[in-house]
Amino acid sequence: MTIVTVTPNSTIDLTVFVPAWVPDTTMRATRTVTSMGGKPADASYILGELGIPSHATGFAAGATGQKVVNLLEGRGAVCDFVWVEGETRINVVVIDEAAGTHSTVTTTMMTVAAEHRAALLDRVRGLMDGATVLVTGGTLPHGVTPSIYAEIIEVARAANVPVIFDAAEPNLSAGLAAGPTIIKPNRDELSALLGRPVRSIEEAYRAGRDLQERSGVIPVITLGGEGGLAVLADRAWRIPPIPVEVVSPAGAGDAVLAGMAASFERGQPLEDGLRLGFAAATAVLLQPGTADCRRADVESFLPQVQLLPYP
Ligand SMILES: Nc1ncnc2c1ncn2[C@@H]1O[C@H](COP(=O)(O)OP(=O)(O)OP(=O)(O)O)[C@@H](O)[C@H]1O
Ligand SMILES: [Mg+2]
Repeated sequence: MTIVTVTPNSTIDLTVFVPAWVPDTTMRATRTVTSMGGKPADASYILGELGIPSHATGFAAGATGQKVVNLLEGRGAVCDFVWVEGETRINVVVIDEAAGTHSTVTTTMMTVAAEHRAALLDRVRGLMDGATVLVTGGTLPHGVTPSIYAEIIEVARAANVPVIFDAAEPNLSAGLAAGPTIIKPNRDELSALLGRPVRSIEEAYRAGRDLQERSGVIPVITLGGEGGLAVLADRAWRIPPIPVEVVSPAGAGDAVLAGMAASFERGQPLEDGLRLGFAAATAVLLQPGTADCRRADVESFLPQVQLLPYP
């Protein structure tokens, strides 16, 4: 029995720390870190650190795609990517130490042909035997339309495998229509889905409850430094943030995916997955690399995660 992660747009993140962002100058990075990127692959990477194996598939290309595979295999994930033309992308995360901001420049360097798309769906179908949960999401490479998310989710649903889906518009709507079990929008992703800004926890809850009632999905909404909100059919939890000194927040949301996936794999209630996920998210904040964390930190944060009934 295993967790399956499907990453259509595999990514390596390059995180550079600059003392201050000054346009029209050459800036020297004070720290440079390469790490995993791409939400589902990030989840596999974090699960690996926690000693939980997973199967990772998706599209990959070139030497950077090989680097994704090496990083995942280094943490015990089993990789079976569909190899395509071009190069797995490198996204650049700029941490401006003076302003205390983090900004990401995303790139596109990989091209997927129709036969690759069919090959990925076949691969996912083949992995559903013995899968306890499928985690998918993220942006899409050139040549792939958002409907691939509906197709991936339908493959899982046809095999009775629950789906954790994390994507921004237009991919979020496309996948939502196929009935994922859980979605994990952050504030911006939820606002874009609704077509209006989500300004408070109360507004996030109302939107989450509405989505839950309309489609049966469980929205697990993450609100950065304001924590998270999980809206189940008959209950909802507010998960307050654990205050820490943030080094880089990139990939914190993906740790929530990893924790929830672990609870499906272990046959535990979602609440256990939320605890593990938010503990891992907090541990990710301490590391400069995207989706990087230390198992000892996750274990030390675990007893500090609170699930408070909401409203
Ligand atoms: N500044 C912070 N202080 C405390 N906790 C934080 C902070 N930022 C994030 N977290 C924790 O991590 C969780 C997930 O973060 P966030 O909402 O930023 O996810 P995200 O936008 O999906 O991130 P990514 O897509 O980079 O993985 C939050 O719900 C919160 O518990
Ligand atoms: Mg996210």
